[in-house]
Amino acid sequence: MLDLIDELSPAHGAPAVAPEWEDPARYWPRLSAATGHLPAPVAVIDREALRYNAMDLLVRAGGLPIRVASKSVRVRSVLDAVLKLPGFRGILAFTLEEALWLAETHDDIMLGYPTVDRAGLARLFADEQAAQRITLMIDDLVHLDLLDSVAGPGSRPEIRVAIDVDASWRSSLLGHIGVRRSALFNAGEVAAFARKVVARPGFRLVGLQMYDAQIAGQGDDAGPDAPLIRMVQSRSRNELRERRAAIVAAVGEITPLEILNGGGTGSLEFTGSDESLSEASAGSGLLGGHLFDGYRSFRPAPASAFAFDVVRRPAIDIATVLGGGWIASGPAVASRQPRAVWPQGLHTLSREAAGEVQTPLQGPAATSLGVGDRVWFRHAKSGEPAERIESYHLVSGDEIIDELPTYRGEGKAFL
Ligand SMILES: Cc1ncc(COP(=O)(O)O)c(C=O)c1O
Repeated sequence: MLDLIDELSPAHGAPAVAPEWEDPARYWPRLSAATGHLPAPVAVIDREALRYNAMDLLVRAGGLPIRVASKSVRVRSVLDAVLKLPGFRGILAFTLEEALWLAETHDDIMLGYPTVDRAGLARLFADEQAAQRITLMIDDLVHLDLLDSVAGPGSRPEIRVAIDVDASWRSSLLGHIGVRRSALFNAGEVAAFARKVVARPGFRLVGLQMYDAQIAGQGDDAGPDAPLIRMVQSRSRNELRERRAAIVAAVGEITPLEILNGGGTGSLEFTGSDESLSEASAGSGLLGGHLFDGYRSFRPAPASAFAFDVVRRPAIDIATVLGGGWIASGPAVASRQPRAVWPQGLHTLSREAAGEVQTPLQGPAATSLGVGDRVWFRHAKSGEPAERIESYHLVSGDEIIDELPTYRGEGKAFL
């Protein structure tokens, strides 16, 4: 069983050594050795790197409890192990079907996004325990109407709901900076909506969610736009801190709230310092997808990775692996490709990129790669590789110590 609570190690008290991942020549070949008997594609989670990342999230959140964003993990044993660490509390789920499944073993699940899954709602309404454990996300009275159309207030348990508030930055010069989710923006709009929700029988308003994608999901340390991004994020932080305080105060006068949620992996310092909030969300920082390498304030350890094997050599400086095209969601730009990390110095070809079945890799290291050699990659995001594989092999030191089924490996494909 994956356990991240460390007893004092024999080395306790000895001089601190640099974490293994800071020595790539040791970190990656060790994974090749440990997984050599397994066919590719093979995926691993390094226990010590995962533990480091979990602890780093806690430190960055500065004492604010962290709700784990399950979409960025999609491995139950990892969610369970992280939630045993003091400081992590509750799950931010991504579909109702998933929330119902997790509610069998977890008692605090907030669905981060609205649902229109009528079959799932019917199951929720028929399950008193799940109804106490799951909070649904809304930002429109239509959401409540849809719930009522599945079963009216008198014929189902009271349903816990939270309001999603737009945490984007509305710049007079640059327009809408952030994601497009809720239309509720200012304290007046949110309070007016909250009053209507509270007046509806059969619902209990328990929370607010304000996710600042333009800060939490946007690196500030990469590329020529970095200075502009930093300026935008700084303005957005100032605006959001004030607006959040006004929203929380306004809704707090209407009804007491249990959950005041904000942030994501990339904004934990800011979120942790916002006194209006009762918790932060984070997920990506646990397994450490490479999109999260581009932040000044933290650097996740490469806790998860996958490998493909070289199957042919089309040219002296090109080695081709079977597989590779595990592209991340979002804009179809180069940064969404998986990154070859070992051996170092490999890149994809601009005309071919990471392919559906084959990926040619070029660079100095390619000349010494032979057929059958293993190449390690990191995914851009943290949860999506779990849709490609049935399990991660858990590595500690030089050994595989466990096999952790992904959602897919447990027969679940939610999105
Ligand atoms: C509502 C919400 N909260 C928090 C997050 C942060 O998740 P992560 O830390 O995995 O980036 C996300 C990610 O998209 C989200 O949609």
